Amino acid sequence: MKKIILSSEIEELSPEELDHVEQTLLSRAQSVAKMAYSPYSDFNVGAAVLLENGEVLQSSNQENVSFPAGSCAERLVLGYAGANYPNSAPVMLAIVAKRAADESWAEVSPCGICRQTINEAEKRFGKAVTLLVLKANGSILRIKGISPLLPLKFNDLKSG
Ligand code: THU
Repeated sequence: MKKIILSSEIEELSPEELDHVEQTLLSRAQSVAKMAYSPYSDFNVGAAVLLENGEVLQSSNQENVSFPAGSCAERLVLGYAGANYPNSAPVMLAIVAKRAADESWAEVSPCGICRQTINEAEKRFGKAVTLLVLKANGSILRIKGISPLLPLKFNDLKSG
C-alpha cells in the first residue's frame, strides 16, 4: 500500500491586501448578492467574474420550488460568460454570501457541481481561474485555480 498525500496552497488576505481589480470584483459580487432569488434557503450568494478582455459579469443564485432546478450564482455567471463571450477566458471569480436575516457576510465555498463547472472553464480556455472567496471573518481566500478545491478531478473523457 502506498499513501498519497494531497496538499493545496490557499492564500488568506485582509481586504486591504487585495489589489484594486480584486476589490472591485469582490464588491460587484457583494452588490449582486442583494438580488438573489432565494426564498427557499434565504442564503443569498453573489458571484462576479472578470474576463480576459476586462469585462466583469455578475450573478446571484436563482432558486426553484423544485430544488434541483435552481442554480448557484457561480454556475449562472460562468454559463452567461461562456455563452456570450466564447473567446474571452474567465480569469478571476469572486464569491460571497449572506443569510437574509444577517447583517454580516456568511461563510461560503463553491459546491461540488460549481467546482466541476469552474474546472470546465479552465479546461475550455486553458487558463486557471483565480477564486476570491469571502470568509465570515472578513478575510478573503485567494485560490489560484480550481485544483486545490478539486484534487483528482475528472477531466479525461476522450483520452486513454
Ligand atoms: N449557493 C450558491 O449559489 N453558491 C455557492 O457557492 C453555495 C450555494 C446557493 C445554492 C442555493 O440557492 C443556496 O445557495 C443554498 O444552498
